[in-house]
Amino acid sequence: MMKSIILAAGKGTRMKSETPKVLHTIFDKPLVEYVIEAVNNTGLVDANYIIVGHQARLVEEFISKNCRNSKCILQVPQLGTGHAVSMARPELSGYDGDVIILCGDTPLITSETIKEFVDFHKSKQSDLTVMSAIMENPTNYGRIIKNYNGTINSIVEEKDATAEEKLVKEINAGIYCINWGKIRQAFAELKNNNAQGEYYLTDIVKWANSKKLSVNSYTIKNNEEIFGINSKANLAEAAKLMNKRIINKHLENGVTIIDPVTTWISPDTVIESDTVIYPSCYINGKNKIGKNCKIGPFAHLRGDVVLEDNVKIGNFVEVKKTTIKSHTNACHLTYLGDSEIGSGVNIGAGTITANYNPLTKEKSKTIIKDNVKIGSNSVLVAPVTVDEGVNVGALSVITKNIPAWALAITRAPLRVVENWVKKNTNQ
Ligand code: UD1
Ligand code: MG
Repeated sequence: MMKSIILAAGKGTRMKSETPKVLHTIFDKPLVEYVIEAVNNTGLVDANYIIVGHQARLVEEFISKNCRNSKCILQVPQLGTGHAVSMARPELSGYDGDVIILCGDTPLITSETIKEFVDFHKSKQSDLTVMSAIMENPTNYGRIIKNYNGTINSIVEEKDATAEEKLVKEINAGIYCINWGKIRQAFAELKNNNAQGEYYLTDIVKWANSKKLSVNSYTIKNNEEIFGINSKANLAEAAKLMNKRIINKHLENGVTIIDPVTTWISPDTVIESDTVIYPSCYINGKNKIGKNCKIGPFAHLRGDVVLEDNVKIGNFVEVKKTTIKSHTNACHLTYLGDSEIGSGVNIGAGTITANYNPLTKEKSKTIIKDNVKIGSNSVLVAPVTVDEGVNVGALSVITKNIPAWALAITRAPLRVVENWVKKNTNQ
C-alpha cells in the first residue's frame, strides 16, 4: 500500500475568513475531506499525512473525527511546499514505497485520475512523476520546462521564470507521485534561494535529474480536476462545477432533472431511475432516493433522508433524518425531521413534526405508521407514534401516541352564530 501527503498548512489569505481554507465547504463537506476521500477511494493508499499549520487545531480536530487513515503533521512556520513535505520525514522514516503528494484545496480531483496517474508512474517505473496540465492561460502556475528530447528538466515558478519560460503552457498541477526511498534525501537538501525565499517542492525535479533518477510527467485530461480554491469566488465556482458533474451522472443514470441549473444535489445522494427532480431543489448531505419519486419544485432535503419508491415531496417541504416508505406524499409546506413514516401515508399541507425541545435542546422521534392520513396544519409533538391507519383531523396538535385506526382531533368545535355580522354592524 502507498502513502499520501496532503498539503494544507497555507493561510488562504484571499478567502478573507476566520475559517482555515481547507475547512471551507461544498455541500457542507470541507475541501480537504474531498481530497482525502478521492485518495482513500483509490484503494491504493493506507495512510494519509495531512500537513497543517494555519489554524492547525481546527483542521486537526476535524480530520481526527471524520477522516479515516488520516493523521495531521504540524508545519510551523510555513516555509514553502518543499518544507511542508519534509515535515513527514519522521513519520515515513521506515518507509521506502511510493508517496502521492496532493494539495488540500483542490476538491474536484477524482479517484479515477489519481489511479490513472499512479498506474502511469508504475508503468514507467518512474521515481518522480509530476502531474501537468496544458493551460491556455498559465499565469501564476509553475511551468514545466522540458529538454529537447521531451524529458522533464525542471519546474520554474512564475516569480522566477524568464519571459521565454512564461510562454510555456504546460504547468505543474501540484500533484506528484514519488518513490520515497529514492527521493526523500532531496528534502534534506532543498534550498530557498529563489524569488519567494521558500523551500520549493518543485525543486525535487532538478534534484532527481541530478541523481539520474527517472523523472516523468503525466498530463491530466480534464483541467477542472485541479481547480484550486483561493477565494470565495473560486469556492462558488468549484461548487457549481461539482454540482454539474453530479447532475450529469444522475441524468446518465436515468434520473429526470428538469432544470440542472437550479438543482443542487450533494455528492453523497443516491437516486434511482425515473425519479423526477423539479426546479430549485437543494439536496444536501447523505440521502437515498428510490425510483419514480417526485421531488420539488422548491424542496429541501437536508441529509440522512431515505425515500422508498413512488414518494412525493412537494413544494416548500423540508425533510431531515427521515425515512419514508413507498407511495407516501408530503406535497406542500411541511417539515419532517427525525421521523419514520410508513407507506401509503398522506401528509397534509402545513404539517410539522415538532422534533426539537429548545429547553432541553433534545431532538425526539416521530413515528407515523402505514396508511395514516395527517390533516393539514397539524403539529406532531415528538416523541410520538401515530399507529397504522389513523386519521388526524386538520389543525390538530398531537401530543400523545394514537392507537391504530383511531381519529385524533384537537380542533375547537366550529361555532356558527347566525346573523352575528348583521347584528353587530347595523345592517
Ligand atoms: C504550487 C507549485 C506550483 C504549481 C501550483 C499548483 C510550488 C513551489 N509551486 O504553487 O508549481 O503550479 O502549486 O497549484 O510548490 N502549503 C503548505 N505549507 C507551505 C506552503 C504551502 O502546506 O509552507 C500548501 C498550501 O496550503 C497549498 C499548497 O501547499 O495547499 C500549495 O501552496 P501554494 O502556496 O498555493 O503554492 P502555489 O504558489 O500555488
Ligand atoms: Mg496555490
